[in-house]
Amino acid sequence: MKLTKTKKIRLDKTFYKELLNNLPEKIFYKDKNLRYIIINRSFADDLGIKPEEIEGKTDLDIFPHNIAEKYRKDDRGIIKTGKPIHIIDPYCPPDKKYVVQCIKIPVKDKKGNVIGMLGMAYDITDKVRLIKKLQKNVKEFQETFEDIIKTMMDIVETKDPYTSGHQKKTVQLACAIAKEMGCPRKQIEDIKIASSIHDLGKIFIPMDILNKPAKLDDVEFAFVKTHPVNGYKLLNDIKLLSPVAKIVYQHHERLNGAGYPEGTRDGKISLEARIIAVADVVEAMTSHRPYRTAYPLEEALKEIEKNAGALYDKDVVKITIKLFREKNFSFQT
Ligand SMILES: [Fe+2]
Repeated sequence: MKLTKTKKIRLDKTFYKELLNNLPEKIFYKDKNLRYIIINRSFADDLGIKPEEIEGKTDLDIFPHNIAEKYRKDDRGIIKTGKPIHIIDPYCPPDKKYVVQCIKIPVKDKKGNVIGMLGMAYDITDKVRLIKKLQKNVKEFQETFEDIIKTMMDIVETKDPYTSGHQKKTVQLACAIAKEMGCPRKQIEDIKIASSIHDLGKIFIPMDILNKPAKLDDVEFAFVKTHPVNGYKLLNDIKLLSPVAKIVYQHHERLNGAGYPEGTRDGKISLEARIIAVADVVEAMTSHRPYRTAYPLEEALKEIEKNAGALYDKDVVKITIKLFREKNFSFQT
């Protein structure tokens, strides 16, 4: 059966009218003077009117003044530029308050002049509420995570009070080096956490060795050398800290293989561990110990400069010296 042209037009009109009026989104058409010409039933129901009662009204007749003015400013922009916009706005019909995502598209005549705009707004209040809840949960998780790291730092310093503040200051220098080297944010975050707890494994070392006010003998030093492995074992069991565990494991390795626990060389030592190694040495040398006084900063810088490329990464050393000599870096207590 073939429809007559008139019947086809009538059927099309009914189809589009029903479609428009059964969509939950708020759909509207405004002329270039920002007057509503058509709205669908969903929009009209919100306003407590019939769709045909909207004709000629403006946002100022419908919404609170400040919100209406915001809509009108956006609309004037569309009329002027002829470009569509995509915005998230509050939407306040009488006795209701939503957040809507709204798309407004300019409607043009055959010559390309803007004669009005077509808009569609849909309710994203639940999505916004869910995103806010997730953001709150993420923030709480981050705070808890930071508290756990801080507690780990405190445990190490309780066991080894002579190095009190050492980890905190190593973090300051390691992060400054990483930033100056242009490391990505995630890498800087890993360096921050790893340097905060790089000596965690010391909790397994007897206190009389850690606090001995004299040079350690070979057996005692062998004990101390277990701390990167023990730190690794503690952290590697926590899935989230597994990348950090690997850095902690390598923080006493040296480029020429003279370090421990494995004597790993060159490229097999991660950049994160190379950075912490230098920060660790500079901070330790410039701090007082029960068996020696603090070295002057210049002496610590000469030590890393002399061993750049042999023990320490050349670039990391270069940046560290630049930070102290040119950028006025200093440890904060
Ligand atoms: Fe260490």
